[in-house]
Amino acid sequence: MRIVLGVGGGIAAYKVASLLRLFTEAGHNVTVIPTEAANRFVGVATWEALSGNPVSNSVFDDVPSVNHVRLGHEADLIVVAPATADLLARAAGGHADDLLTNTLLMASGPVLMAPAMHTEMWLHAATQANVETLRNRGVTVLEPASGRLTGSDSGPGRLPEPEAIFDAALALMQDGGVPAQLPLAGRTVTISAGGTREPLDPVRFLGNRSSGKQGVALAVAARNAGASVRLIAAHMEVPVPAGVEVVQVETAVQLREAALRAAADSDVVVMAAAVADFRPAEVSDTKIKKRDDTADPVISLLRNPDILQELVEVRAANRPGQLIVGFAAETGDAHGDVLAYAEAKLRRKGCDLLVVNHVGEGLVFGQDHNSVVILSRSGSEPQAASGSKDDVAAAVIDRISSELSRVFPRS
Ligand code: CTP
Repeated sequence: MRIVLGVGGGIAAYKVASLLRLFTEAGHNVTVIPTEAANRFVGVATWEALSGNPVSNSVFDDVPSVNHVRLGHEADLIVVAPATADLLARAAGGHADDLLTNTLLMASGPVLMAPAMHTEMWLHAATQANVETLRNRGVTVLEPASGRLTGSDSGPGRLPEPEAIFDAALALMQDGGVPAQLPLAGRTVTISAGGTREPLDPVRFLGNRSSGKQGVALAVAARNAGASVRLIAAHMEVPVPAGVEVVQVETAVQLREAALRAAADSDVVVMAAAVADFRPAEVSDTKIKKRDDTADPVISLLRNPDILQELVEVRAANRPGQLIVGFAAETGDAHGDVLAYAEAKLRRKGCDLLVVNHVGEGLVFGQDHNSVVILSRSGSEPQAASGSKDDVAAAVIDRISSELSRVFPRS
């Protein structure tokens, strides 16, 4: 594939050298077009050496070959990283004041942009409007990652990791790579992941064995399918992925608030988190001490809200057509098998799809492999999926995409 790699003038430009490496090692022919500002961060020699192609940023270099026309037409994919606030504004405004913006206007293939800037700049109404304009035109603009920024500040605005940009680029190139063909392009997907922790006192909590691996795999699969992803992360043993918006929570009550807020404008909500059904009725401000002079403490528990059920209840008023997906961890017992319990749960909770795990000793929690059955409220045949948690995530996201396009077709 022929890739044009546009590099914006931000400090994250140095990370793009690794992205270029990933592309060339995968056999792609990459032409780098830095902006003038990018040249202040990384030298042209770096791009030429790593790409094996000449590098220019002016339409006035090599005029007879009309570079911007050739590069724009020939590119199977254009990737812009870091997409700075200025570069997003120039692209959204249709400017043509350097080789990169000229090439973007000539592009006939898909365009992927990976933003990086300070949080305030990213959240500024001007930048958000530019991102929306670009997305409406079919450009895939990744969400920036959250974390430490150039100064002492931190928050959303970090360049997604090179591997994440590479994965998103690969996903775009599949099937001819037109962004509108990405199954979840233009959709917003909220995914909860990990296990809640319900505090007993400042040092103790009631928790569960969820590692967050399956939820994170779902977030990555949804992101690679072109969705704008919000990950509501309870306690997880895996890092949050790049290119998704992350809200950290601890308790079920916090997860409920974050989920209801995020769901208000989401096309899909996936409740993959292991939410505690109960929380301690009293949380001690100080550490609970063992004493010889009193009876052993008894912990009384309060019922937590059922978030999945509540999401289903508020959907009709807020966002009819929203697809809601639950997860169920079942062991089966003397009164019923895993599927019987899961079918009853699907009816009780009222969600559209229920992804059922068979749990037990050494099964599912913390493991890299998973085996699930996807049940549907519409009554279609149960669908089995197994393999790595990434394979299962891909199957669930595929199923979500096809349900969405059936129930809620793109206008
Ligand atoms: N869930 C939720 N709020 C809760 C508990 C669970 O939203 N308070 C969600 C989970 O994220 C999952 C689904 O409900 O998507 C199923 O959770 P599970 O714990 O398996 O079901 P329960 O309703 O707790 O049923 P039971 O304990 O009887 O198995």
